Amino acid sequence: MGTLNGRTALVTGGSRGIGRAVALRLAADGAFVAVHYGSDADAAKRTVADIERAGGRAVAIRARFGEDDAVDRLFEALIPELDGRGLDVLVNNAGIASASPAAALTPGEFDRLMKVNVAAPFFVIQRALPLLNDGGRIVNMGSVASRMAVAVQIGYTVTKAALEALAPTLANELGRRGITVNTVAPGAVRTDMTAGYTGIPEAVAALESVTALGRLGEPEDVADVVGFLAGPDARHVTGQTLDVSGGTWLGPISPS
Ligand SMILES: NC(=O)c1ccc[n+]([C@@H]2O[C@H](COP(=O)([O-])OP(=O)(O)OC[C@H]3O[C@@H](n4cnc5c(N)ncnc54)[C@H](OP(=O)(O)O)[C@@H]3O)[C@@H](O)[C@H]2O)c1
Repeated sequence: MGTLNGRTALVTGGSRGIGRAVALRLAADGAFVAVHYGSDADAAKRTVADIERAGGRAVAIRARFGEDDAVDRLFEALIPELDGRGLDVLVNNAGIASASPAAALTPGEFDRLMKVNVAAPFFVIQRALPLLNDGGRIVNMGSVASRMAVAVQIGYTVTKAALEALAPTLANELGRRGITVNTVAPGAVRTDMTAGYTGIPEAVAALESVTALGRLGEPEDVADVVGFLAGPDARHVTGQTLDVSGGTWLGPISPS
């Protein structure tokens, strides 16, 4: 019997990359998973089909964050799919990256980053509050970028720090209902988002050289931690950030 049998989950950005791995993991644990996506319907369909092929249950829901009323549209589609069961697990994973140094970050790019990476998860949480069942789980997808300098990602870093800052306050607000709120902070993970540099051996070697475990992350490395936080074993963990970076930039690594 899966640890999430009979539970429901919403994974934003569940169609590709880390979110896809999270959706597959939560479904494998028994949850009915709403696989949210922004524009790539084929990727969302593939994720739902893979879940169903493995014996799980899922539905794809489109809502493009950054567009007016996207959060409303998400919940208009989600609520009938829940069929009165409420929501047990909310994973705010959808996000966009940035490749602009401070001098080049335009107000338009800054605004879009804030809308997709901060405003959308905040208002998704707000809309989810009346649906969340007691004992529920909220997991927000942060980044190691909020604890270490990452070249040309200053706008992205600001948004991930803001998202991470939600957890302690929300944890206090929701804790008496047994609802936990945590942030997972991946390091570099091989996905479409990072394909621009994970295909360059020198860039990968540089990242591995500052990572204790000596390798980049895979989506499943992150999904398994989300699965833990979403499950019963994490019932007493709230308001925290879990670094899932293989120990990136912990300090000097002695040559072996
Ligand atoms: N990959 C890494 O190294 C890394 C490291 C630290 C943190 N993270 C964080 O982990 C999360 C997932 O990253 P990833 O690497 O898996 O990204 P990804 O491969 O680019 O996938 C992004 C997902 O988010 C959805 N999405 C993007 N923009 C959206 C929008 N405007 N509205 C609705 N959905 C949208 C995408 O759906 P569509 O394709 O349909 O738009 C897709 O499902 C992000 O929050 C990212 O910041 C990633």
